[in-house]
Amino acid sequence: MTIPVQPIFPYPPPRVEGYHTYLPPQVQPVGSLLDDKEYKQNVNPPKLFEPVTIRGIEFPNRAWVAPMCQYSADDGSLTDHHFVHLGAMAQRGWGSIMIEATAVVPEGRITPQDCGLWKDAQIESYKRVVSYVHAVKGVIGIQLAHAGRKASTVAPWTSREALEKGYQGGTVASEEHGGWPNNVVGPSPISFNADKFPSPIEASTEYIQSLKKAFADSVERCKAIGFDFIEIHGAHGYLLHEFVDPISNKRTDQYGGSLDNRIRLPLEIAEIMREKWDKPLFYRVSATDWLDDTLGPEKGQGDGEWAWWGIEQTTILTQKLADIGVDVIDVSSGGNDLRQKVRPGPSYQLPLAEHIKKAVPNILVGAVGIITTPHQANDIIEEGKADVIFMARQVLRDIDFPLEAALALGVAVAPAVQFERAWGRMMVKRDHNDDPQHKHGITEVQGEEGVKSKRSTPPEIHTSIP
Ligand SMILES: Cc1cc2nc3c(=O)[nH]c(=O)nc-3n(C[C@H](O)[C@H](O)[C@H](O)COP(=O)(O)O)c2cc1C
Repeated sequence: MTIPVQPIFPYPPPRVEGYHTYLPPQVQPVGSLLDDKEYKQNVNPPKLFEPVTIRGIEFPNRAWVAPMCQYSADDGSLTDHHFVHLGAMAQRGWGSIMIEATAVVPEGRITPQDCGLWKDAQIESYKRVVSYVHAVKGVIGIQLAHAGRKASTVAPWTSREALEKGYQGGTVASEEHGGWPNNVVGPSPISFNADKFPSPIEASTEYIQSLKKAFADSVERCKAIGFDFIEIHGAHGYLLHEFVDPISNKRTDQYGGSLDNRIRLPLEIAEIMREKWDKPLFYRVSATDWLDDTLGPEKGQGDGEWAWWGIEQTTILTQKLADIGVDVIDVSSGGNDLRQKVRPGPSYQLPLAEHIKKAVPNILVGAVGIITTPHQANDIIEEGKADVIFMARQVLRDIDFPLEAALALGVAVAPAVQFERAWGRMMVKRDHNDDPQHKHGITEVQGEEGVKSKRSTPPEIHTSIP
């Protein structure tokens, strides 16, 4: 007896063309708004879910992952940890994913286990991650960095364990442990902390020239990998921040002294990169060293000289970066002076972003720092204080934040097709238009857990839960 076969769906099933293993295609980017003709609650959506297009790259929403060092690379190459860590983000609806601080030269790593893009052999490991993220319709970029005088240290957990076991020394990675304490470079021979960090050597003119080339070469590797954007790391007390800061930079050549001289190197690097890279370019800045309490105003009242690095100079630097064609300024702070007095709390760095947003209209502004809830993130954009939100620790605590935020803000966004069954409560079609009461009203409890996705109605084939 032959059993009649009824063709009920196309076979073989569709797959992402060109990807090396089977992957079902995502209907649309994960975390992007579902069609507002079907999902009326998406008419006039909260700004956190408004897409933004920069130089032809569409970021499906404005909840973006900030760069986060994992100290888990192997001679600069990404490992399975990165594939899982970053790949998981691509499944969860972040508007943008950024690979952590990645050194353009080996001595520019914070630890021996940092990511690096100083040689072609490293390209393949990045391609593996980027191809996966692109295959699921995600957007991914990289932060290019040089750690300056804070290089050749050990990962935080290594130093913590050592201290717990009674070790009295600093955090320097010795040569025996893969470090390069005698080849740590800064603008001037001034240590970040003589007890715990290496003593840097002053970058020679030749070194500065070779560094510019290293950034340019890394951009070529980024092109080969296929990144969507690049961020220049100019914050947190690493090399470019050290150069702009009058306390860490005591040079007497064209890279030290006046503000124009101190910001020369970041501007030269940004210019070289802008010439080579036609996709979005970001710059992360430490907008203040938080030294008001310790040293008084940023510009000394007596002599009118800049006393320390703060928001006024940051604004001047940002204007020049915008004029060069940098697209996004990612506004962080601190990390270059042990005397800093930071008062962390929700959105504590936002006033810095807001200041820049008001002063420099021709650049998009990213806010970062203890932004952890959907309404907090959305309000920042709705109120025009920043254009996008970067999040770090909340990503590690709650990788589903974008979809949970959609639920909390009352809109429906695409989950990964494989995860749809978990998000039925968010994908409920509601008839009302943009009634704010409802827009912000639906909660997980009110939402209809168990309601099937109404995005499409495929034939019901599975009757049991696998
Ligand atoms: C684990 C971890 C690693 C980080 N690594 C980087 C990095 O590679 N580059 C960078 O600019 N900032 C780095 N940061 C700082 C974050 O990007 C972010 O600015 C900071 O954590 C504040 O945001 P949050 O309150 O959302 O965590 C790191 C933060 C964390 C928690």
